[in-house]
Order: sequence, then structure tokens, then C-alpha cells
Amino acid sequence: MQTGLLHTHTLLVTLFFIHYVVKLVLLLTNSTEKLAAYSKKTKIAEMVISVGFLVTGVVLALNATILGNLFVVKLVMVFASIPLAVIGFKKSNKALALVSVLLIAGAYGIAEVNKKQKAGGKIETEQAASSIEAGKLVYMEKCQVCHGSDGKLGGSGAKDLTATQLTDQQMVELINNGKNSMPGFKEVLSDEQVNGVIEYVRALK
Ligand code: HEC
Repeated sequence: MQTGLLHTHTLLVTLFFIHYVVKLVLLLTNSTEKLAAYSKKTKIAEMVISVGFLVTGVVLALNATILGNLFVVKLVMVFASIPLAVIGFKKSNKALALVSVLLIAGAYGIAEVNKKQKAGGKIETEQAASSIEAGKLVYMEKCQVCHGSDGKLGGSGAKDLTATQLTDQQMVELINNGKNSMPGFKEVLSDEQVNGVIEYVRALK
């Protein structure tokens, strides 16, 4: 459900951003009438989209385990952009409108960067001699925070890995896609790294 929500949120934010870029272009090119017509036509859609992205954002934030400093910057940018956008477009103040759209763009950029960093970024395990050794490196870097060095820590509601009943295939799925408060690692771990870390998890028993 979490990833579905995240996709919805990203989609709504993207629509919101495109919408404001269109408005900004109309404003900057002095197409006052077109802007008025466009704003009128999209009024309800804009309301639905902005409420949707704020609500999905709040739900995601409440469910997240770790909110980095970047998240705070993003939040400040989003909330600063709203009054600026309202005033900027209402008063046809180009500078304010531009700043508000830049803030939205900045927050959007941060969200993307944050996503990449969330699971900690890619790690290099090529130098490891065997897959289980590579798996150990991955484990210490990515999994230990929640699961502990012995697999039993249970941080953020994590499960005891020494007692797992999952098959390898189920583990691959879970590690790639995440589940509840466990993040997915598809973007940061290669297939070999996932297999290696599973081997290492099996060895914890
Ligand atoms: C942010 C904390 C967190 C991190 C980091 C994390 N996990 Fe988890 N893990 C969890 C939580 C929470 C669950 C329980 C998910 C559920 O079933 O609701 C879980 C469940 C699991 C399970 C399933 C256990 C079972 O029997 O159902 C495996 C296997 C697992 N994690 C492996 C890993 C591996 C491997 C890594 C590193 C690549 C990792 N986890 C990183 C929190 C985390």
C-alpha cells in the first residue's frame, strides 16, 4: 500500500508542478487572458490535486521511519511556495510567481535526491571475495540498523531474521520491494547483492 501511495503522491506532485509551469509561462509571456481562462478551467482540478498531494504527503511522512534533514527543507519549500504562488498569480507579480515555481521545483528535486539516498545509495561490493562476504557488507551497511548484527534486533518493528520461514524467492521479493516499514532495495542492490545478503541472512541462524 505504501508504494501505491508513494506513486500516487509522486504523480500528483508532478501534475501540480506541470500545472504551475504552464501558469508561469502564461504569466511571463503576458498572456493574461489565456492565464485567466486556464486558471478558471483548472480551478477544481487544481484544488483536488493540491489537497491530494498534501494528504498523501502527510500520510507518507507519518508512516516513514526516518525523515532526514532534507525532508524538513522540502517541507519548508513547499509551504513557502504556496502563499507566494497564491499572491504571485493573483497579483500577476512575475517575480513572486517565478520564485514560487522555483521553490516547487526545488522541493521536487530534493524529493528525487532523497529517494535515491533513502536506502543509503549504492554500495560497492565488488572487492568482496565471495557472495556471502559481499552479503555481509550489504547487511552491515543496509540491514543492521533495523535487524541488528545478529538479526534479532527488531528495530522499527523488524522481524527476527533467525526465525524467518520465508523461501529465497519470498526474500528476494521482500528485499526488492520492501514491506510495511521495511524499505525496498531494488534501486540500490544488484541481484547478486540481494542473493548474497540472503545467503548471509541464512547464515545468521
Ligand atoms: C528500516 C528498517 C529496516 C531495514 C533497513 C531493513 N529491514 Fe528487513 N524488515 C523490517 C521490518 C519492519 C520487517 C517486517 C515486515 C513485515 O512483515 O511487516 C522486516 C522483515 C524482513 C524480512 C522478513 C522476515 C520474515 O520472516 O518475515 C527479511 C528477510 C528482511 N527483513 C531482510 C532484510 C534485509 C536483507 C535488509 C537489508 C538489505 C533489511 N531487511 C533491511 C525493517 C527493516
